[in-house]
Amino acid sequence: MTELSIREGTAANVPALHCLIESAYRGEASRAGWTTEADLLDGQRTDPDDLADILADPKQALLSAWRGEGLVGCVLIADRGEGTGYLGMLSVSPTLQNGGVGRALVEAAHAELARRFGALRVRISVLPRRDTLIAWYERLGYACTGETLPFPYGDPRFGLPKRDDLFFLVLERPLQ
Ligand SMILES: CC(C)(COP(=O)(O)OP(=O)(O)OC[C@H]1O[C@@H](n2cnc3c(N)ncnc32)[C@H](O)[C@@H]1OP(=O)(O)O)[C@@H](O)C(=O)NCCC(=O)NCCS
Repeated sequence: MTELSIREGTAANVPALHCLIESAYRGEASRAGWTTEADLLDGQRTDPDDLADILADPKQALLSAWRGEGLVGCVLIADRGEGTGYLGMLSVSPTLQNGGVGRALVEAAHAELARRFGALRVRISVLPRRDTLIAWYERLGYACTGETLPFPYGDPRFGLPKRDDLFFLVLERPLQ
């Protein structure tokens, strides 16, 4: 198999990144993967303008994973200040999941958060009911902080909820 290459996403990658993220998180295509938000949310996960804003922001970056010319995964990293980094929008092409790309992206994100932003810890936010995903993050060293964040109901940029009881669990992991 072609070797996996992880590098920073660029503006030229926005259309491919957008397709990849939507296919991983939402709709029927996402059900080919082992975990998806399709049962919890319809609508979009992101859009090209949001991705362009991320790429233009020095406090954020999108790492992209490639096999040859094919985009197979991506992850958002962000500096939240005071030694805290954020990891999100982690996506692997549904038909290529469970082959180690997700773990490789998480490890690359951890290294880049420490190198670029001096992060000492990293936070993620996950929807509850995603037990197998939370178990995976725990195997990657994350633990629940006990904090929660509200779901942005009423803002379709974050999707169209299928339930009225969504919120985010906050998990954290040290980076050293
Ligand atoms: C989460 C995601 C990025 C993982 O990517 P991936 O390439 O499949 O990840 P890996 O192959 O490195 O690891 C897969 C892990 O899932 C486990 N797994 C595979 N199938 C599973 C299943 N049906 N149930 C539970 N765990 C499963 C594997 O055992 C493996 O665990 P390990 O690393 O401890 O051995 C990918 O599933 C995805 O894009 N999901 C949709 C978007 C999403 O939910 N992102 C996270 C939002 S917070």
